[in-house]
Amino acid sequence: MSKENLNRRDFLKSSVKTVTIGGLILSTFDIKKLIASSSEVNSAQAKVINLTDYPALGSTGGHEMIDSNTIVIRTGSNKFTALSTVCTHKKCDVEFLGDGFECPCHGSTFSKTGKVTNGPAKKNLKSYKTNYNEADNTLTINK
Ligand code: FES
Repeated sequence: MSKENLNRRDFLKSSVKTVTIGGLILSTFDIKKLIASSSEVNSAQAKVINLTDYPALGSTGGHEMIDSNTIVIRTGSNKFTALSTVCTHKKCDVEFLGDGFECPCHGSTFSKTGKVTNGPAKKNLKSYKTNYNEADNTLTINK
């Protein structure tokens, strides 16, 4: 084997190592970016609703489904409760009865605040923090 062939071989090996290491470093940065952007998405899951679009929420005691599985109940002039309507037992949709919730599947009941009042469900309904902006008449639900 000539010295020139050996040098070419060394050069190729070195080039492959450099490209491989460079690719790994770049892919690590891409993964970090991806993770960072996915956590931004998770933290940006707040939903803002304009209460003029939900007339029942205009007065205390009113309630509205704001999407397929989230109910908002107005509990005071500036207070709201937002709950998931997915039963914590086996994920059926609970029904709001005015003074609490009942699951049609196995009979679990929950208070108006989502607390389990009768099993078989053992966990409370998932609740979401809310922020009411009186000036804009908007409610932010932090899901
Ligand atoms: S799914 Fe609700 S009680 Fe079983």
